[in-house]
Amino acid sequence: MSEVAVIGAGYVGLTTAACLASLGHSVTCADVDEQRVRALAKGEVPILEEGLPALVADGLGAGRLRFVVGAAPAARDAEFVFLCVQTPQSETGAADLSAVEAVVREVAPVLRPGTVVVNKSTMPVGSTQLVARELSQAGAANDVGVASNPEFLREGNAVRDFLQPSRVVIGCDDAAVAVRVSELYREIQAPILVTDPASAEMIKYASNAFLATKISFINAIANLCEAVNADVREVALGMGYDPRIGFEFLHPGPGYGGSCFPKDTAALNHTAEAAGYDFSLLRGVVEVNRRQHERIIEKLRDAAGGSLEGVTVGVWGLTFKANTDDLRDSPALVVCEQLLAGGAVVQAYDPVAGEAAAAQYPDLQVVSDSYEAAAGAQLLALLTEWDEFRWLDFARVAAGMSAPRALVDARNLLDPSAMRRRGFAYQGVGR
Ligand SMILES: NC(=O)c1ccc[n+]([C@@H]2O[C@H](COP(=O)([O-])OP(=O)(O)OC[C@H]3O[C@@H](n4cnc5c(N)ncnc54)[C@H](O)[C@@H]3O)[C@@H](O)[C@H]2O)c1
Repeated sequence: MSEVAVIGAGYVGLTTAACLASLGHSVTCADVDEQRVRALAKGEVPILEEGLPALVADGLGAGRLRFVVGAAPAARDAEFVFLCVQTPQSETGAADLSAVEAVVREVAPVLRPGTVVVNKSTMPVGSTQLVARELSQAGAANDVGVASNPEFLREGNAVRDFLQPSRVVIGCDDAAVAVRVSELYREIQAPILVTDPASAEMIKYASNAFLATKISFINAIANLCEAVNADVREVALGMGYDPRIGFEFLHPGPGYGGSCFPKDTAALNHTAEAAGYDFSLLRGVVEVNRRQHERIIEKLRDAAGGSLEGVTVGVWGLTFKANTDDLRDSPALVVCEQLLAGGAVVQAYDPVAGEAAAAQYPDLQVVSDSYEAAAGAQLLALLTEWDEFRWLDFARVAAGMSAPRALVDARNLLDPSAMRRRGFAYQGVGR
């Protein structure tokens, strides 16, 4: 079993640290956020992720998991240093690697000979070489190895995805280093693909861009279904039975969001531009997505008779998808922002992220349940597919609203005819 340092205790870092500890490794997880580290050291997990609190508690209890402030103290005795810090979108669309570079400069002088630095953050093609070069410039020993090991976990399912992954990808030019990284995953049943660093880095971006393409594709089909009176749910079902297509990621909605797809598609577009390749397909995917957010706002504006000024809108759901507390690049927040800009009063309810949203958007009236969000509203927008929105007393919801009682179900979560029977002017997406 190995000594592992994980730098960054966010969605990916914390999951990586807790899961590697559960596989028997001795893990020190570092973050710059002192409050987060203090909470974690007491077993308090600051993010919503099923199964993670139990794994953190097990790791702490067994003495296999520790939390520290700062990357250097964690990296000092490590055989492997996992970089799990954020790589957000910069102004040019490229990935901003400044957090990665800061960690590299911090850990380089303290790394033991033979340590392997593992790039788990999503980083563009060339980053494995970049990290190796910057480590050496910052004084790391010559035999420190670097490997790319991109992460494919889904928020809300992170622990399962880490421990039962569809594949583990390792990109490294040094076969011995790749074998050492693969041994960390010995207990995991999954295909391990060892490849060169550029291909490993591209696999991550290509995978996210492909999933984003699937979403934009079904959203475009949904929009066309609206124009020709077809039902996209039937269409997606009929498509999905074809094993070459499959059912996953064929759910129309308000457009993709979250901390990965928007920035990763932007970064891949940037990579294509820099390489002189005209990736018009991917640009189209991004544009369809931007328009999809707008279509939801247009549906609401039309339902209000053309203007949102002074209209009260109830909003159900704020996170970028259900079963996570992550608000980053949430389409629901884009819609709320536009509603507020149009002069609407927005009463929003989210099962987990209301307070965090209120801190970001002081004009948003965050309320404590679905009925309160609908009370007195003329329009209602279902923006995140939380399961609890299926099981409400819809007669009570409708009774609390005022005309026209328009319900825009941006996730196609509810049954249109049942909603119309209850008195809502219901609109879904593509049906
Ligand atoms: N969130 C996902 O679903 C997901 C999935 C796959 C890959 N990724 C990739 O993983 C990376 C991390 O994503 P995330 O969502 O976990 O980000 P995050 O923002 O949740 O976590 C990053 C953490 O790193 C910490 N940090 C920043 N600088 C540091 C430093 N110098 N020393 C120690 N800690 C530092 C931050 O305080 C933060 O807690 C990104 O590249 C992302 O694209 C994310």
